[in-house]
Formats: sequence, C-alpha cells, structure tokens
Amino acid sequence: VFAGIAQGPEDPILGVTVAYNKDPSPVKVNLGVGAYRTEEGKPLVLNVVKRAEQMLIHNESRVKEYLPITGLADFNKLSAKLIFGADSPAIQENRVATVQCLSGTGSLRVGGEFLARHYHERTIYIPQPTWGNHPKVFTLAGLTARSYRYYDPATRGLDFQGLLEDLSSAPSGAIVLLHACAHNPTGVDPTLEQWEQIRQLMRSKALLPFFDSAYQGFASGSLDKDAQSVRMFVADGGELLMAQSYAKNMGLYGERVGALSIVCGSADIAVKVESQLKLVIRPMYSNPPLHGASIVATILKDSAMFDEWTVELKAMADRIISMREQLFDALKIRETPGDWSHIIKQIGMFTFTGLNSEQVAFMRQEYHIYMTSDGRISMAGLSSRTVPHLADAIHAAVTK
Ligand code: LMR
Repeated sequence: VFAGIAQGPEDPILGVTVAYNKDPSPVKVNLGVGAYRTEEGKPLVLNVVKRAEQMLIHNESRVKEYLPITGLADFNKLSAKLIFGADSPAIQENRVATVQCLSGTGSLRVGGEFLARHYHERTIYIPQPTWGNHPKVFTLAGLTARSYRYYDPATRGLDFQGLLEDLSSAPSGAIVLLHACAHNPTGVDPTLEQWEQIRQLMRSKALLPFFDSAYQGFASGSLDKDAQSVRMFVADGGELLMAQSYAKNMGLYGERVGALSIVCGSADIAVKVESQLKLVIRPMYSNPPLHGASIVATILKDSAMFDEWTVELKAMADRIISMREQLFDALKIRETPGDWSHIIKQIGMFTFTGLNSEQVAFMRQEYHIYMTSDGRISMAGLSSRTVPHLADAIHAAVTK
C-alpha cells in the first residue's frame, strides 16, 4: 500500500550529520549540527551531569513510575526560576504555567498547538532567517508562519529598522517568535536598548512574545545575562510563552529535556492554561521521560552542583570564543579576501559565515568539511587541530 510513496528529503541540519557519517575521509569535520565537542573533537558529558546521574542511580527509593502529564514538578519550578529569575514577579504571583516537554522542539510544538487551539490570532512572525525547524513546527501545529526582517547580509548584523517596520505592520495580537539569546543561525542579537524598543513596540501592538531559549549561558557565559531579554518582557507584567532547552547548556542533547512556560495574567488563568496544556500533551505522548528531568532538577536544586554547572558551562562558552579568535586569526594570516570580523563579533554556538551554497558544496567536496547550506558553521564543533583545515578550505572557496 505504500509502494507509491515518495522519498522524503533529509533534514537540512540533521541530514548534514547523515552525510558526514557516510564520508570515510580521515580529515572530515562536522560543523553542521549545533553540538558541543571538546578540543579532541569528542562529545562532552559534563562532570556535574555524571555526578547527578550517580546520585540518582544510588538512590534506593528511586522508581520508574509515570510522571504526571505536566512532568516533574521540581524540574518545572526550577526551570521557570532559571529563566525568569528567582525574584520574578510572575513566579511570585503564581502566574506561570510550566510543563516539561521534549526539549526545545517539543516545547515549541506544545506551545504552538496550544495557541492554535486557544489564541485568537493564528499568525506567528518568525525572524528571517531562523532555525530551519521553526516554520515546520508552527505550521504543523496549525499556525500560519510569516517572517520579519532580522539579518542584514550587507552589514552581517541586525536589520533593526527592518525588524521594527515588519513588527509595526503585523496585525495586532500576532505571535512573534524571539530567540532569547545567541540567535540561530546568525549569532546576531539585539542590544539591550534594542530589546527595550522591541518590547515597547510589541506591547503597544499587543503582539504576543514566544521566546525560544536554547542557548542560555552560551551567549555571554552567564545564565542571568542571557535571560535579560526575557526578563524585560516579564517585568512589564505582560504575557508570553517560553520554550527552554537543556540540550546545549547541560549537554543533555539525547535526553530531550526542556520546558514550556506560559506567563499568564493571573494565577487563576495559569491553572486553566495548565489544564489545557495537559489536553495537548496527553494524546501526543502521554507524559514526558523521567531521567533527563531528574538530572536537571538534581543540579538546579543543589547550590554546589549549580555552581559546578556554571563553571563547566562557562568553560564551554569560552572554548567557543577561543575558536572564533583562532579562526579569525587563521584567515588573517592567509590574507583571505573579505572582512571576517563577524566571526569574532557574532555570539553563541554559530558563525553565519556569509559563504554561499556553492562554496559550502565545494568545501564538502574538496575538504570534507560539513556545514549547513546557508553557510552556518557550528563553532562548538571546531578545535585548534581543525581550525587550519577550515581556514584553508574557506580561503580556497573564496579565492577559486
Ligand atoms: C541546530 O540548530 O543545529 C540544533 O538546534 C540542533 C537541531 O536540532 O537542529
């Protein structure tokens, strides 16, 4: 019965790993997916995560029962506190409904499904460009995705004027997807002053913010600083949605652990919102998995472990910054044509190189360097050993 089925395309990001895995070359480098690697090019399990897992395993009273539909209660509370701040008025007034979801993607999807069912405006504005999965997640959830200008290729910076114009002409009440920090794929974030202008504009037009926070701690190395944009929108008393992921900042990629929080107008509304989120979740996957959320809760609730985490997180962020400097220097030494200063200016896991799809294909073919076709490279996948190879490849691509 499925004989007529067409072959589906590979995912633009995860498909890069599929192609990389098939390449037998010993010099191949995967700079596609945003996944942290050590200087030795190996995946990293944080020490604090190993410690938390040991504690969980040795806990005699541990059980493998179902979690509630909303997930692990401690995890939810601590996640909201992590992003909104312990002294957040929304938390103190019990106006936040938080549910544990399958990492960032699952949180976005549950939020999207909730909005499609219960919110009066079905249009969501997403930045141009954005993470490739965003339009698919929201469209399949039942929303209509439109884009707003975000990145200016000419300056390799923020198109702030374009952003303000597009949000000004959005219909009142429209949903707006915002990257909380370390914008993926561009590595370009608004300044705090620009965030403040965005906030004022959005609140004056009753645009509903939907934040995606996949990199808290990776932009500045500080968890609190990376939450400043979000906290501005909470401080004004307004509503918003927040999708959080622990894939990158705790290295829990495969554990699929994240949270969706909806900041509501009152505690009463938050209770009702939570009841509706349960109705979204139950028919999709019943309830979320226990292990990853237990690791996160163990770390977040113990101040010594929390501190240990922030040190390890900062070390990851610092290694990425050092990769930026090394790549920039390597291109300078090679006198590679062009201004490459965006490599050190952009923040977070990615550099949006400005290389076009032919150059990307050339680098894959000739140098076995794998990246997404939009020219995004994951700086977290680089090491001192692979920087010269990448610089040679970029140089060859732009001078050929
Ligand atoms: C990325 O953009 O590389 C990550 O968010 C991983 C993913 O799922 O695409």
